[in-house]
Amino acid sequence: MKDGKFLVLGIESSCDDTSASVVADGRELLSLSISSQIDIHTLYGGVVPEIASRNHIKNINAVIDEAMEKAGLDFDDIDLIGVTCGPGLIGSLVVGVSAAKALAFAADKPLVGVHHLQGHISADFIEYPELEPPFTAVVASGGNTDIVDVRGHNDMLMLGKTRDDAAGEAMDKVARVMGIGYPGGPVIDKLAKSGDPHAVEFGRVRLEKGSYDFSFSGLKTQVINYVNQCRMKGLEIKKEDLAASFQKAVMDVITEKALEAAHEYGRDSIALAGGVASNSLLRSMMKDLCEANSLKLYVPRPVLCTDNAAMIACAAYYKYKEGYRDDLTLDAFPVLDLAKGARGEWTAE
Ligand code: KG4
Repeated sequence: MKDGKFLVLGIESSCDDTSASVVADGRELLSLSISSQIDIHTLYGGVVPEIASRNHIKNINAVIDEAMEKAGLDFDDIDLIGVTCGPGLIGSLVVGVSAAKALAFAADKPLVGVHHLQGHISADFIEYPELEPPFTAVVASGGNTDIVDVRGHNDMLMLGKTRDDAAGEAMDKVARVMGIGYPGGPVIDKLAKSGDPHAVEFGRVRLEKGSYDFSFSGLKTQVINYVNQCRMKGLEIKKEDLAASFQKAVMDVITEKALEAAHEYGRDSIALAGGVASNSLLRSMMKDLCEANSLKLYVPRPVLCTDNAAMIACAAYYKYKEGYRDDLTLDAFPVLDLAKGARGEWTAE
């Protein structure tokens, strides 16, 4: 506690970013430190789990020190430590969880584990101090494409999720086939700006009527087949058009399902979260749809969309406020149910 503010140190290491952050009173961002491993994993065209964990070990202390220094605080000032304990790459998660437990023990601070997706949704609370549940959340990242009915800070119902590839994962894989770099999402986003989204007709996979689940692997295969056929026939592939057509097929389905969920559950706002929420087409389509349907739209700035510890500190704050606590037996979980995790019940799906 300093200047009457409740201070949370958040730690995130679920995939390839090592991050620490200090957040005051749940929503005021005092510092954010992120060490990215993109340059290393680019060499392999995707995240290599073993390399990711080894680099978390190298980076974690420096990232925590930097977050504390930027916030101008000592560990004595910290009131709570929040850490992502799942879902994610197990070797990566254990690094953050171990660091958090060591600090909680050494500095004698309370500890709260956070579900990574609850964290992503909490990025919207930092960006928009006025935002309160209930609302519909769309979490789209490299590992998830989910629609969540957010009923309370720690009361979340997963309405639908991807049955195979996540949206970001499909973008990364398509970019790899197109040979345009990693991570694919930002490159496809940029290329698509000068392409025609109607140039190549890709089918939209909507699954059964009423389902909020997603499936992007079929779309990914359609793109791969298209690329292979063009190559076999010696036809030129216009990358901008292909990127725009593929991206539109992904975003059409996400935006439609988000809107349906908001209507069905009677919500008046939609919050986007996760790395793919940085996508310019998703943002503009959602903006138009929300305006046309009198819904409010919340989208965090890009640094809060991708993996970061500020969102974890925010989620930890609201868990702590509602009485949730973990102890030094807190474990790391590769698979975790969101509704249970938000309530601090750490069991796999
Ligand atoms: O949330 P995040 O940093 O990590 C995970 O938890 O997965 O999301 C990373 C994902 C990658 O798949 C990346 O390609 C995608 O977010 N991404 C984007 C954009 N920026 C990042 N996808 C589409 N458009 C973007 N502008």
